[in-house]
Amino acid sequence: MLSSVIDVLADPADGSALSGVDNFTRLVSETGHSYDVARQGYVTLAPGQGLNHDGDSAEMVAARETFLSAGHFAPFVESVSHAALDAVEEAGIPDEAAPVILEVGAGTGYYLAHTLDRIAGARGVGIDVSTAAAKLLAKSHQRCGAVVADIWAGIPVQDASVDVISVVFAPRNPAEFARVLKPGGRVITLTPSSGHLDQLREPLGIIGVEDSKLERMRTQAEGYLTMAGEPAPIEFDMTLDKAAIAAQVGMSPSARHIEDLPARVEKLPETMTVTARAHLTQWVKV
Ligand SMILES: C[S@@+](CC[C@H](N)C(=O)[O-])C[C@H]1O[C@@H](n2cnc3c(N)ncnc32)[C@H](O)[C@@H]1O
Repeated sequence: MLSSVIDVLADPADGSALSGVDNFTRLVSETGHSYDVARQGYVTLAPGQGLNHDGDSAEMVAARETFLSAGHFAPFVESVSHAALDAVEEAGIPDEAAPVILEVGAGTGYYLAHTLDRIAGARGVGIDVSTAAAKLLAKSHQRCGAVVADIWAGIPVQDASVDVISVVFAPRNPAEFARVLKPGGRVITLTPSSGHLDQLREPLGIIGVEDSKLERMRTQAEGYLTMAGEPAPIEFDMTLDKAAIAAQVGMSPSARHIEDLPARVEKLPETMTVTARAHLTQWVKV
């Protein structure tokens, strides 16, 4: 619910504090800007000109929900929530302090909800530019506030208000991450590695993962964030049937580029072993 994180949110126009009015049907800033809370429980926090793009479509979000809820990425969600718990424990934050976890590009809320389950008392802000995703995000956990925002336009969160930021297969804005992190806070990123879902690439014609991704992230973060330790590789095999493969591809941008996708999926064996590969990297402020 937005009320659980209202002290963390900020007016996207000028960064001033927000409060809930009219039974939390609107958020109003100290400077008088008003943002309607959608019936589904999320709020769009965009400066005057609105959002520049839509993010994941309703079809992609539905495919993501189907695939993730089947548990195929369980090792990924375990790693991310475990790293978030470690970060909170190592920083010595007690449960009563209600640590704040911000997830950027949070999608359906699958990862954030697991993290909130794992850290008693933690509160979550999930940000995504897709309203289709925000509808599910808002329902994903009682202690999660769902916000629609474009993180390239700025993160509508107070300075030094967040204990942990998690980013799973989603865009990063290191300058904004450094601004909103508390001293001693940590950023956890999960990024696909070269060879991720390799067995599907050729038969389905989907795009490969570039080898230089981690190096590019390090360069982008220069001056704001630095790696805390070496990236940890995570690799596991999944047994996927055609429906799961269709959902996996449907939740990725590849879905938009491959016209004959259903026909290609139909030609696959009944089940396939597909390898998931990613790196979990932790970052601290420089
Ligand atoms: C590959 S999905 C990952 C979603 C989620 N983290 C997961 O793994 O299930 C990337 C997400 O980032 C969102 N996104 C893309 N660009 C964004 C932006 N500029 N600001 C906020 N969210 C963005 C998309 O709408 C999408 O939900």
